[in-house]
Amino acid sequence: MPDLLDIKTGLIQTLRSAPEKTGWSTTELAAVLSCDKNKLLCAIIELKKHGYRIEASNELWRLELAPDIPYPFEFPGRQDRIHYFPQITSTMDEARKAAGSGCPNLTVIIAGAQTKGRGRMDRVWASDEGGLYFTLIIKPRAHPAEAIKFNFLASLTLVEVLRDECRVDARVKWPNDIMVDNSKLSGMLSEMDATGDTIHFVNIGIGVNVNNDPALIEPRAASLRSLTGRTFSRPAILAQFLDHFESGLKEAAFPLILTRWKQFAGCLNREVTIVTLKETLNGFAEDVDDRGSLVLRLADGTRRTVCYGDCFYG
Ligand code: BTN
Repeated sequence: MPDLLDIKTGLIQTLRSAPEKTGWSTTELAAVLSCDKNKLLCAIIELKKHGYRIEASNELWRLELAPDIPYPFEFPGRQDRIHYFPQITSTMDEARKAAGSGCPNLTVIIAGAQTKGRGRMDRVWASDEGGLYFTLIIKPRAHPAEAIKFNFLASLTLVEVLRDECRVDARVKWPNDIMVDNSKLSGMLSEMDATGDTIHFVNIGIGVNVNNDPALIEPRAASLRSLTGRTFSRPAILAQFLDHFESGLKEAAFPLILTRWKQFAGCLNREVTIVTLKETLNGFAEDVDDRGSLVLRLADGTRRTVCYGDCFYG
């Protein structure tokens, strides 16, 4: 017999399928989900408590409304690896704890809001309600030098999802920001734990401005809603991201990921300013090399490769 999480997950999936159907009887649902009717009714009650509107008319159940919340039962096939918290300090904190206590590869920690959201270069990441904030825990069999691949695969995957599914002209900006024109739509922070040749985990934290209003706090930020005037489903964006990221992990080697990443890069072949923790450099962004560093041609013609910093352009 499936557990309650599996029943809730299967129930949402079933009610969403066959939209032409008037509804599903309790007997039919219990058969599809291989559970007894009591368990099914428990699942319906729990989902209603989470804000799902599941109604029966003429004894046929229908899903009338689902909340825009990335609950585990929104992710069929990976529901056991998804952990949603309405509010926490930072998904990075929770992910570090989970990774250290033996969670499976590709576990995802999601927050509805973060009280101490962190950005790169010691910045704060404003994390109010309506944004999508998550950390993906990867436990790869790879050498620490290869870890950069995961960051580029993550930003490539996300830019493709935002372009294809949300229909915005998103571009990647070195190292892993996602921009629409000059506004930042998404940022990424990664943390690795490794000893010698072994990676214990790479945690990739991603913040996407979806239905929130980040420009109130950060004038150079935008959300999908502020750019398009529409609202978007956060569970759908995350599900697409995870599907594509997991296939990319199986299929793609770093050179191919980088080639595809460069096709969406808005920061190459132009004058940029790079701010690192130590210095500010102005130059022409020529390329990203096979270690993920930005290759910059300075005014005196010399080249500098920068492995960590922020990139700005007008
Ligand atoms: C940046 O652009 O500076 C990186 C921002 C990363 C924000 C995400 S939101 C989910 C995860 N949790 C955090 O505290 N930070 C990352």
